[in-house]
Amino acid sequence: MNKSIPIEKGFENGLKILREGYMYAPNRHKIYQSDVFETRLLGQKALVMGGEEAAKLFYDEDKFKRGGTPPEPAVATLLGKGGVQHLDDDAHRNRKKMFMDLMSKDQIEVWAKLVEKHLLKATKEWMTKESIVFYEESKEVLTRAVCEWAGVPLPEKDVKKRSRQLAIMFESPMAMSVKHIEGRIGRQQAESWCRDLIQQVRDNKLHPQEKTALYQVAWHEQLDGELLDLKTAAVELLNVLRPSVAIAIYFTFTALSLHQFPEVKDKLNGEDPYYLHMFIQEIRRYYPFFPFNGATTRKNFEWKGYSFDKDTLVILDFYGTNHDSRIWEDPEEFRPERFSDWHSSPTDEIQMKLLAQGGGDYYTGHRCPGEFNTVRAMEVVADYLINKVSYTVPNQDIGFSMVNIPTVPKSGMILENIDYIG
Ligand code: HEM
Repeated sequence: MNKSIPIEKGFENGLKILREGYMYAPNRHKIYQSDVFETRLLGQKALVMGGEEAAKLFYDEDKFKRGGTPPEPAVATLLGKGGVQHLDDDAHRNRKKMFMDLMSKDQIEVWAKLVEKHLLKATKEWMTKESIVFYEESKEVLTRAVCEWAGVPLPEKDVKKRSRQLAIMFESPMAMSVKHIEGRIGRQQAESWCRDLIQQVRDNKLHPQEKTALYQVAWHEQLDGELLDLKTAAVELLNVLRPSVAIAIYFTFTALSLHQFPEVKDKLNGEDPYYLHMFIQEIRRYYPFFPFNGATTRKNFEWKGYSFDKDTLVILDFYGTNHDSRIWEDPEEFRPERFSDWHSSPTDEIQMKLLAQGGGDYYTGHRCPGEFNTVRAMEVVADYLINKVSYTVPNQDIGFSMVNIPTVPKSGMILENIDYIG
């Protein structure tokens, strides 16, 4: 029997997302007592879903496609045009394999070592200052680390400029006013930089190592044997550089969690080496980051008695699923132990519960290929903050907005009196 999907009133409800941020979808799933409700976003009908069962549906490649989904403001800042996020089927698999090949175990360890190297290098400078804003500094550390990892030359004079261009792309998609315009400009400048780099590789003027992202993107062959056009290649290189810098948000939440829940420090230095991994997973579940994602139905189908029509925009709520009490006991408590029985690790298996960086399969689906790099970088920074440096946390506003997307503590996490103890 067909059940009716609850409908939110209003001809255009996009502004409500801007007003309620991360809580827009969970608030309504609660009010309607339903895993799915209908609304209108960007002038079209949209179904908004949340929960593990909804995630299983969303990641069913037979029922959903990605091509054509993202809204223009996200394309102009965060995503760019023609990248892997917008592909489906064989074209997607071909492009996605390029990303997954970059993330070999060896290369992830190279990445982890580079993150540590650049954290330690920055420490020398931080020790000469009274205080630093950890979020701002982390973006620069990660810019240096990812450029080195990706084979991208980064002259010292350009570090701040490139760091700003890469960061504004993920800081601006849902911002209003000037910041959003800066995001659009940042993408244009960064794409132009990356187009130039790829051209230089193809002209034999720049020689990155074979395992690097710059080399692989420059020489990636599509299904027809052709190289990517320069613009798309730039978008894909930025799909490595930009989100690697975005890990600064998780670095900041790592510092915040050590401050808010200091009792975890003893456990992190205790007998169980797996505790670090559990701690990182809990940070990715507990704090808000990537809010939701969208896809379009490929055909008419029924799910739990609800009818889904072909070509409907469907949004999956990540934040709400990460705080769904049917999946997580006491979801508003910070409790790394909840991951103790995930010994196969949420980053290894097809899973639909922890939607920090998407769910489903890495190769056939759209799940984030950078999840391994993210988790390793967070493990490095946690170890750094606990074992390599001492610091004090002065009084400051550590609250974070649930409306701004993405969000970080309002102070950016000010750390004082940094000293090397490692
Ligand atoms: C896709 C989040 C780090 C590269 C995604 C998706 C999310 C996400 C939510 C979409 C998943 C879906 O569609 O279901 C994050 C977060 C990160 C992060 C929160 C932490 C900062 C990274 C890193 C890289 C990366 C470090 C590369 C080194 C990508 C790419 C895609 C993607 C290329 C598109 C995959 C596809 O469409 O098949 N990410 N990501 N991300 N991410 Fe990440």
